[in-house]
Amino acid sequence: MDKFVITGGTPLQGVIPCSGSKNAALPAIAAALLTAEPVVLGRIPAVRDIRTMLDLLRQTGAEVAVEGGCVRIQAAEIARPEAPYDLVKTMRASSLVLGPLVARTGRARVSLPGGCAIGARPINLHVAALERLGAELHQKHGYIEARAPQGLHGGTVPFDRITVTGTEDVLMAAVLARGETVIENAAREPEVVDLAALLTKMGACIEGAGTSTIQVRGVEQLRGTPSGQPHTIIPDRIEAGTFLIAGAITRGDLTVTGCVAEHLRALIGKMHQAGAEVEETAPGCLRVRVPGALQSVDMTTEEHPGFATDLQAQFMALMTQADGIAIITETIFENRFMHAQELARMGANIRLDGRRALVAGKVSLSGAQVLASDLRASASLVLAGLAAQGETVIDRVYHIDRGYERIEAKLAGVGARIRRISS
Ligand code: EPU
Repeated sequence: MDKFVITGGTPLQGVIPCSGSKNAALPAIAAALLTAEPVVLGRIPAVRDIRTMLDLLRQTGAEVAVEGGCVRIQAAEIARPEAPYDLVKTMRASSLVLGPLVARTGRARVSLPGGCAIGARPINLHVAALERLGAELHQKHGYIEARAPQGLHGGTVPFDRITVTGTEDVLMAAVLARGETVIENAAREPEVVDLAALLTKMGACIEGAGTSTIQVRGVEQLRGTPSGQPHTIIPDRIEAGTFLIAGAITRGDLTVTGCVAEHLRALIGKMHQAGAEVEETAPGCLRVRVPGALQSVDMTTEEHPGFATDLQAQFMALMTQADGIAIITETIFENRFMHAQELARMGANIRLDGRRALVAGKVSLSGAQVLASDLRASASLVLAGLAAQGETVIDRVYHIDRGYERIEAKLAGVGARIRRISS
């Protein structure tokens, strides 16, 4: 298993580019199952979850070609409308193929994901939503088996709680369902908007993506992406946010390029309150600096446009370097504080109280051996390592490879002393 060795204390300086969004690319790849024609996607990040999703499509019978950041997928025929346990257990987002497979072929067999480091993460809301469109779903031998022999029909889908991939899953099913579907209490994340944009290019009729009510008029067939015009995936707002925090925590002068400031409003607001300057120096370019001392600010995670749970761990690392006590409340996942104990091993003063973490700062972090427990927790340990005195060794960095493209090379490019040790 690979490790990162980080020697902290260097302010990050210069320009760091943002990759395409993992969480937008995953549903876009699944959407290619909806048509027999080729779908070409640009700015696909080279991360492990994407490779897993492409493997999943290959095993259904789709042809997949990857060239640089571009992926061409053609699901001319779907021989096996299945997502096997071996793939699903490494990536929960595999449940994104449930909606497209049942919409396209009238059947699907998708392994249940099982437990996860950050919470239970059931897919009951995906199942209930697809039932509203006429699919019959049963659980057998650890799999969800879905059938819609007569095809899907439109319907009203009132989500009990907001779910990002649940919204995406049912949106992909609804575009091929007969009649009109209304998705209520839909997720408003930029990744949902990007998926709707792709589906629209493929011939779907969708209104309201980005609001909490999405209306879909089903069509008989979808086509591929227009020839010569790949759909370009939006920038990764979580990667960009991680880099902004990296600039602030090292008290550097860093410009993140190729990002969308609008997608990062909640983080930028909190960073301003904490005393970091974040300015848009040119379209898509965010420069971060910290002119004085950082101050603690409370933060609660929420669905978009609120503060993203995927940036909570990284923000906690930043708050260890701020004066005062920050109360961080996690409302999306029930067990997303695994990084707190590891940060404490580096000297952080954090008390956990159910869904709240009290972070007292400013402390002087010192390098230590720590363990990555999930993707974003690993990112927070990298950030803490960059700010700490001495050497930090992060074990199990395969978690970070799931969602960050060449993070060590990008950070080294702006002055970080970080290297990967392969074993
Ligand atoms: N939930 C249910 N039942 C369901 C679906 C969700 O109870 O059927 C609960 C979840 O357990 C959670 C809440 O609803 O407590 C919200 O979960 P959501 O479904 O929105 O999460 P997700 O779609 O599985 C996506 C991202 C996550 C991100 C969350 C929240 C992808 C591939 N994943 O997950 O990203 O944290 O939305 O914004 O888009 C990551 O990239 O590190 C990551 C975990």
